Amino acid sequence: MNSVRRINEDYCYVGASERSPRLFENLFPVPRGVSYNSYLLRDEKTVLFDTVDRAVGDAFFENLSAALGGRKLDYAVVSHMEPDHAATLAELVLRYPGVKLVCNAKSANMIRQFFDFDFDPLLVAEGEELSVGEHTLKFIMAPMVHWPEVMFTFDERDGILFSADAFGAFGALEGSIFADELDIASEWQDDYLRYYSNIVGKYGAQVQAALKKTAGLDIRMICPLHGPVWRGELTRLLEKHDRWSKWEPETDDVLIVYSTVYGNTERAVAQAAAYLAERGRRVRTINICTTDRSYTVAEMFRAKNILLATTTYNNGIYPAMEYLLDDIAALTLRDRRVGIIENGTWAPAAAKLISAKLDTMKNIEVAGVLTVKSALKPEQEAQLQELCDALIS
Ligand SMILES: Cc1cc2nc3c(=O)[nH]c(=O)nc-3n(C[C@H](O)[C@H](O)[C@H](O)COP(=O)(O)O)c2cc1C
Ligand SMILES: [Fe+2]
Ligand SMILES: [Fe+2]
Repeated sequence: MNSVRRINEDYCYVGASERSPRLFENLFPVPRGVSYNSYLLRDEKTVLFDTVDRAVGDAFFENLSAALGGRKLDYAVVSHMEPDHAATLAELVLRYPGVKLVCNAKSANMIRQFFDFDFDPLLVAEGEELSVGEHTLKFIMAPMVHWPEVMFTFDERDGILFSADAFGAFGALEGSIFADELDIASEWQDDYLRYYSNIVGKYGAQVQAALKKTAGLDIRMICPLHGPVWRGELTRLLEKHDRWSKWEPETDDVLIVYSTVYGNTERAVAQAAAYLAERGRRVRTINICTTDRSYTVAEMFRAKNILLATTTYNNGIYPAMEYLLDDIAALTLRDRRVGIIENGTWAPAAAKLISAKLDTMKNIEVAGVLTVKSALKPEQEAQLQELCDALIS
């Protein structure tokens, strides 16, 4: 048995998915699993586009063997050396000793760092082409999307862009591998943004450069290394990535991100949410004490207006909030309007510390600060409303 799917006349999908929840990069929850995509071209020569994570190696090698149908494997293109794709490269070389690895010089060095096998790669550079029969493959460098050596491959005849980790998503692929076979708008949307913001989010400028470089190509299909394959209508996918890579928010709804130890900050947040809703704004509230940071990061990429509310904790910022702020600073989130509610019982300090972190980021406007001393008092209601008004004005 195998789970090979045909992409078109000459290409097929030989990747595999990990369905049981685990942490991607030992960091990110993937309750819907994750796919490790790999593609095989059968022309006069056979060409494999990337291998897979060790976790799905068995399924992948079964697929590859079935798809080759007894033919030898001539080439394996390595888009980048991150082990969620390249961990099985050594085994590939063992199983298919005649295979020629096709990669750029940086990847070749990394292959030597990760592995000990001898190989004589076909080194390719920007714009170089490899003819494998009816198909000619063109190599396009996409440095830092999201590793330094990342390389796209374009098949001009079929208009297929092999985009490495760009245009990817979390979520297992179960038979249906094409975006048009799936419910992208409701089922996949959040996993696209969570994948983009957390994995690629820091490299918006490099994504923009890659988008510009590929804009002149007649792309009819995008084959990423995670998540669905896109064919036909690509505008939606490209537009989303264009927007996200410019850190442009998707909505002017208000996002409230808070932490609480004993519930008092939470009550103040509930009042703010009710007031904002009364003012006609849609509000989304996240308790970061009980939500994995990667979800909050994604929502912060989505929202323009963000209310941060947190307790002071041992003269510092409550840890979950501090980690979140460090994360979004590292991802270089920018162009947001932020309101701050700090809580402290004896020496509130969170707001000052949060402001200092936001100051290190690009174009974050602090719309206002409200200090709560243990619990919000009725006489502070006007102040809370003022803060909310400033956030949405
Ligand atoms: C372990 C711990 C450490 C705290 N450290 C401080 C502090 O250094 N300065 C301060 O003003 N309040 C401190 N607080 C009080 C909180 O900031 C906050 O006022 C209180 O927990 C009420 O808010 P909550 O009900 O939303 O948790 C601390 C609370 C806890 C539980
Ligand atoms: Fe990667
Ligand atoms: Fe990846």
